[in-house]
Amino acid sequence: MSAQRTTVGIIGGGPAGLLLARLLHLSGVDCVVLEHRDREYVERRQRAGILEQGTVDVLRDCGAGARMDREGLVHDGIELRFDRRSHRLDFPELTGGRRVTVYAQTEVVKDLIALQLDAGAPLRFGARVHAVEGADTDRPVIRYTHQGREQTLGCDYVVGCDGFHGVTRHAVPEHARRTYERSYPYSWLGVLADVPPSCDELVYAHSERGFALLSMRTPTVSRLYLQVPNGTDPASWPDDRIWDELEARAATDTPWTLRRGPLTAKSVLPMRSSVTEPMRYGRVLLAGDAAHIVPPTGAKGLNLAVADVTVLARALIQQHRTGSTELLDAYSDTCLRRVWRAEHFSSFMTTTLHTAPDQSPFETRLQLSQLDRIADSRHAATELAENYTGMPLTRGLSSPCAAR
Ligand code: PHB
Repeated sequence: MSAQRTTVGIIGGGPAGLLLARLLHLSGVDCVVLEHRDREYVERRQRAGILEQGTVDVLRDCGAGARMDREGLVHDGIELRFDRRSHRLDFPELTGGRRVTVYAQTEVVKDLIALQLDAGAPLRFGARVHAVEGADTDRPVIRYTHQGREQTLGCDYVVGCDGFHGVTRHAVPEHARRTYERSYPYSWLGVLADVPPSCDELVYAHSERGFALLSMRTPTVSRLYLQVPNGTDPASWPDDRIWDELEARAATDTPWTLRRGPLTAKSVLPMRSSVTEPMRYGRVLLAGDAAHIVPPTGAKGLNLAVADVTVLARALIQQHRTGSTELLDAYSDTCLRRVWRAEHFSSFMTTTLHTAPDQSPFETRLQLSQLDRIADSRHAATELAENYTGMPLTRGLSSPCAAR
């Protein structure tokens, strides 16, 4: 067994853990990232790809923006389709200039891994964490196995960025945490296709056949989703069936063509809302999916993770420099305000756009009335646009790097 020490032990090398490590490294706070998968797996994991302006700013500020600025696609709006009609929301016009950037999470992760390794900062792949001990002491310890050896990492603080199924959450005793959850009676079938997107912007389609989303990764790669029943086997969806269904669900009275091409990946994603409170217990802090999950409609997951670790980096840097725990003490409350807003929005988008298996005609009419309202009312459209493009990170928080 070998024992090491660091200031901040970060469990999980997804976007939350990697970005936190980057922000801390730039401010001279030492940290170690432990990721139980290998690099190849982490760099391939498919997730959403919509970055809010605040996310773009933080990535740029910490030096992770070069490829995003070259390859990311800046979008000024989205299209809603319902009742065979189409309605575009113009984000800059509705929000006073806010936009989003289409740049896949896997690309963000690749950029952050490269930066971390180039800087010589510790990032251990294949490190399987068994337990986090001593959350309520001054010296929490992470126990893990790496390259066949049992190891311990003594830390001043432990941050769990290890997702919904991670171990860190369990370091918080049951009596001290509460989880709020909602499940949905449908999943998404997601595919990647080697074909240019059929529309310039994302299309969210409500239809009685179920929801469909037309998204993209690059000017030559489309990302497409269909609502499917829970427990669906992707093998039961041959390629032609997927294209036919996308076309039927996104159909409007104005003729429109869906470009078809070879599918290169196919998987089913569950939909879930979940929040664990508080996001801090003693010297253990939770960030990103380890603390909260949103259903993918609205693409808030990555943006919330970035917001959490931006707030957290500031707090850890303050503690390291001055000994003050003021920001750390506020961490959970600061983040949860944004988290619950995003939970509400993601849940709203999900339940407004999907058709539940037991949905009554009355409920369908309510959904259509809500979508009509968004199309007809500037207030309703602004509400959606502000939530979609994201609330700005709180004053002075957009750049923990600026405090360097
Ligand atoms: C995606 O491109 O993967 C995506 C985009 C928007 C969403 C969800 C997923 O709301």
